[in-house]
Amino acid sequence: MPENKTIVLGITGSIAAYKAADIASKLTQEGAKVEVVMTPSATKFITPLTLRNITGRPVVSDMWDLSDEFSVEHVALAEAASVVVIAPATANIIAKLAAGIADDMLTCVVLATKAPVILAPAMNDNMFQNPITQDNLKKLKVRGFTIVSPAYGRLVSGKVGVGRLAEIEEILCVIKKVLGRNGDLKGRRIVVTAGGTREPIDPVRHIGNRSSGKMGYALAEAARDRGAEVTLISAPTLLPEPKGMEVIQVETTLQMKEAVDKVLSGVDALIMAAAVADYKPAQIWGEKIKKHSPTLTLKLERTPDILAELRGKLLKVGFAAESQDVLKNARIKLEEKRLDLMVANDVTQPGSGFDSDTNKVSLIFKDGRVEELPLLSKREVAEKILDKVASLLEVK
Ligand code: PMT
Repeated sequence: MPENKTIVLGITGSIAAYKAADIASKLTQEGAKVEVVMTPSATKFITPLTLRNITGRPVVSDMWDLSDEFSVEHVALAEAASVVVIAPATANIIAKLAAGIADDMLTCVVLATKAPVILAPAMNDNMFQNPITQDNLKKLKVRGFTIVSPAYGRLVSGKVGVGRLAEIEEILCVIKKVLGRNGDLKGRRIVVTAGGTREPIDPVRHIGNRSSGKMGYALAEAARDRGAEVTLISAPTLLPEPKGMEVIQVETTLQMKEAVDKVLSGVDALIMAAAVADYKPAQIWGEKIKKHSPTLTLKLERTPDILAELRGKLLKVGFAAESQDVLKNARIKLEEKRLDLMVANDVTQPGSGFDSDTNKVSLIFKDGRVEELPLLSKREVAEKILDKVASLLEVK
């Protein structure tokens, strides 16, 4: 999480400079202290005042203007930075950094910092493809810079090509990954399942449930941001696919089981937040069922229990959405499925369970301990669960 981290956001002179305002805004909203450093040409595209209002912080654009009460010395910024991000990064700044030239505030900060540096290039497609730019980027990569490749699309010249600033979500994801690379889940491989599986009845109907995928996605993103290598196995949801992880889309319980079994080798922990169908129609109609008869009987048969049938030494975390005897029922499932941790989800509480942004859960451990959590956002619940996962993995 960027919370309480100092992020130096460098902005250079590109038409995409206005998009940096969105990056600054999102990082600020997530609790980061965003220190903006603009090159003089960046100020021709977007004003320092805009960035200053968004971040609530001084904006540095002129190395020699010390009249502003907010003027900050480059060494102090370089030392305070948890990460330096240059978005958009022009061919010019890339060339200067590759050559080790420090002639403005931004290049001085980059040369003086020990923090990781991320570059998100944005430029004309020919400039980007030019071997000089490519060589410079290669050189910087070798020196440990992280490059967020530009996207393909419409460029300011009117042409279509590779050179557009990468999607903001992708840049934010890379920032979080870089910030979290020394997190407590560093080097861990974690598989998360999310969403509600669907069991087809005929070509247009299915048996499903109300899972939105929010809990599972929050877990996958939180694990990614704490340094884990994450695989998200997702049943259908309306959520955008998260970046910075492997995402496998499935529909049925059987497909989810096959996906879990396929990726499991070398995995440290499996967290099953998905609401998995326990039954599926014994027969799938090849054509849409017509309403000819007054009643229709569906015969259902059991699906495999993914968690219960799992073998191996990995840490297993389950969820139990319960509407009565929450702790008792969740404990029974923990034992039946031989889990290390069960997240008992009280779905009778307002704002808890399916499709809400918040959740009210209790954590039940294998040794019988129970930890009740207050109503929290799903991201906060995810962080609490991962605190336990990290310490259980330490002793496993
Ligand atoms: O997606 P959201 O809208 O954010 O909602 C989140 C949630 C309510 C779906 C989630 O927090 C939750 O509680 N998920 C578990 C739902 C449930 O009731 O699971 P269960 O009691 O049927 O199963 C217990 C555990 O076994 C679960 O981890 C489940 O993934 C797993 N299971 C279940 C059936 C099956 N055939 N195979 C399984 O592995």
